[in-house]
This record gives sequence, structure tokens and C-alpha cells, in this order.
Amino acid sequence: MEERSDGLYFGGLSAVELAKRYSTPLYVYEEKTLRERAGQLKKDIAYPKTEIKYACKANTNRTIMRIFREEGISIDAVSPGEIQAALDAGFSPSRILYTVNNATWDEIDYGVSRDIMVNIDSLSQLALFGKRYPGKTVCIRINPNVGAGHHDHCITGGPDSKFGISYREVGAIQRTAAEHDLKIRGIHQHIGSGILEGERFIEAMDVLLSAARSFEGLDFIDFGGGIGVAYHEDEKPIDIGALGRKITDEFTSFCGEYGRELTLAIEPGRYLVAEAGCFLVTVTSVKKGEKHRFVGVNSGFNHLVRPAMYGSYHRIINATNPGGAVIPQTIAGNLCESGDTFTRDEEGIVDRDLPEFREGDIACICTAGAYGYSMASNYNSRPRPAEVLVGERGPELIRRRETLEDLFRTIP
Ligand code: LLP
Repeated sequence: MEERSDGLYFGGLSAVELAKRYSTPLYVYEEKTLRERAGQLKKDIAYPKTEIKYACKANTNRTIMRIFREEGISIDAVSPGEIQAALDAGFSPSRILYTVNNATWDEIDYGVSRDIMVNIDSLSQLALFGKRYPGKTVCIRINPNVGAGHHDHCITGGPDSKFGISYREVGAIQRTAAEHDLKIRGIHQHIGSGILEGERFIEAMDVLLSAARSFEGLDFIDFGGGIGVAYHEDEKPIDIGALGRKITDEFTSFCGEYGRELTLAIEPGRYLVAEAGCFLVTVTSVKKGEKHRFVGVNSGFNHLVRPAMYGSYHRIINATNPGGAVIPQTIAGNLCESGDTFTRDEEGIVDRDLPEFREGDIACICTAGAYGYSMASNYNSRPRPAEVLVGERGPELIRRRETLEDLFRTIP
């Protein structure tokens, strides 16, 4: 994405042109950024046996997943749907880890029958899994009692987290596995999402490494995802170079002690896709309220839920009128709920100083590549948007806009 004085450009094409060609609301991704992030991460974690697994819950568009496959990245999947997306995108089963949480046997069987390793999340499921699949190879998700993340909802380690088996239960894990001849080849953790302080990541890594000493026969240790990105202009991006060096040093010395060079795995979702994506919407009405200037647009939290759900900040650009007078405005969605505003925090509306929006202008909501489309819904019975990828060969429609017929196709 390139901001020029006359507008916003994606690979030489203006946001306004893209909006005209494909209509809005529209997700736009840049292939260059996707490949750059993947390449950067591979460089920054220099440990030679590193496996980067894309946590595809961030964005399951097949074309985007295929790009990551070409970049040598593997997959973390959490449901049969995500496994299906990964297989469709050409990933071999050996490059997919299936992390389950409160999954049904139908779901677990789906993964096992496709030769995908299951990452088990509770002692109760470990015992049942052992009965059902004695002798299988598994990964175990550990809760290191350390959590971090941009919002309470996104902290997945620590005493309040429903995920993983406590690091204190190593003995019980081993006994249960031995009873059913399960082979624990990997241990895993994911402490949370949107982490901008590397220290928390390292703190949790240390707990997992000390648990790992009790497991013989490991092939890999997976430290999860969670690397944050800067959404706000004032936020400082995480220093991945420094974090990568620290991870490499600690892991290398652990492997020396363990006596074998294990695979180091991480599972970033957001870091790989967030900054590659933007969400384009059109201003449909402008209203002067008692307190706010409401700029109404043709989408809402049905298509990008992060502001309404977490009070998340997303930078917004006026792509049509970038030189307009800067005034406080609230960008409001078209859903029947007052919380449906894109400029807000957890408490409510926060006006934003932006170049004046007029009816018909295109607003670009930035850093929307992760947890944008993948969390979109049909609330208010509205179809979900289209997705376009801008690559070297120009823009390409990578998911068509839903139609009204799509909304009702499950009704018998
Ligand atoms: N691995 C596991 C097991 C996870 O549960 C997650 C995210 C990740 C990896 C990737 O985390 P990331 O690198 O993307 O931070 N909807 C929220 C984010 C929820 C993430 C849940 N799990 C948001 O929009 O901020």
C-alpha cells in the first residue's frame, strides 16, 4: 500500500479504481507484503531447523495459503474446515498440525483419517484418544501458566485460560500416554495473540523448555504464535530480529543439553497477513449528530468485528479525499446496533481526526488482513464481501462476493 498526495495505491492501482472495478465492501491484499513477511520471519529466526506454521484462522483464503506454501511455510489448523482449506491449498498432511480444543470425535477422526498429527489439549481427551487410537503419534499442548495478548479474550495461557494441560502435569501426561502406547513427538504452547513484548514470549518459552526436559523422543517443540503488529501509528512493532536471536540462542543451547537437534516451530497468524490486507468501504451518508459527525459506510462489524469486539484500533484513510480538511469524525457501520462503529475503544465511540469524508468517498480500513474476513458473518442477513489479491500480474479476484442466494442455500 502506498499513500500518495492524490490517493492510496496498491501495486500502482488506486483504491478508488479497485473499488469501482470490484465494488465495495472489499478486502484487498498485497502479495508482495505476504511474501515479505514470510521471508523476514525465516531470516529473523536463524535456527536451521525452524518450521513456521501459519495459523490459518487469521485468514483461510486458499490463494493466500498457497502463497505461504510456496514460501515453505506449514499450517496450524484448528478445525476440519481449516484442514480442508490447507489440503485444498496443496499442503501435505505432514505439514499440518491439528490443534484441538473441546473437539468432538467426528472432528478428531477427520484429522486422524487424513494422517494429520493431533495436538491434544486436555488429559481427559488424551486418555480417550489413547483408547481410540493406541500407538498413535501425538503432540501435547501445555499451559505454561504465562499469558499475554492485546485483549483478555486473546490471552490463551495462564490460570484463567481454558487451553492446554498445566506444565505441572507432565507426570500425568506421560503415564496416560504410556498406558496407550501414545508417542509424544511434540509439545506445544500458545500463550496469546497480539504480543508486542518479546519478554513474555521468552518467559513462556523457558517454562516449556524446562517441561521438555522430561519428555524423551521429541522431534519438535512448538512455541505458538502471537507476534503482534503495530495497528496504531504510535505503536512500536516488535523487534523480531532481537526476539529471533534470543529464541535461536535458547533453543540451540537446549538442544545441546537434550542431545539432539529438534525442530523449533512457531505459529504466527497475524504477523504474516495483518499488514498485507485492507478493507475498502464506501460512505453512504453523512450525519451531524448531537455529539459526533457520523460517517456512515456500507459495512459493519459483520465484516470486520475487531473494533466492536475488542475495541481495536485500525487506521482509517480517506482514499478519495486525502487532502480534505481534517475534522473529528466517527466512522459508523450499517448494522442495527449502536456498537457498530469502526472508530471506538472498548467503552464506546472515539472520534478520529480525519480528512473530511463525503458521500461516495472510499474509506480504507488498514491492517485488516488478519481476523478480518475470517471472522466475518452474515449478521443482519448481509452477504460477505469479495476479496482481491494484488500481485505482480495485477489484481485478481480470490473470493467472489456472496449473494443473497448464498445466504439461504442451507435451507431445505
Ligand atoms: N496458534 C494457536 C493455537 C492460536 O490459537 C492462535 C490464535 C495462533 C496460533 C495465532 O495467533 P496470532 O499469531 O495470529 O496472534 N481474533 C483475535 C485473535 C485471536 C487469536 C486466537 N488464536 C483478533 O482479532 O485479535
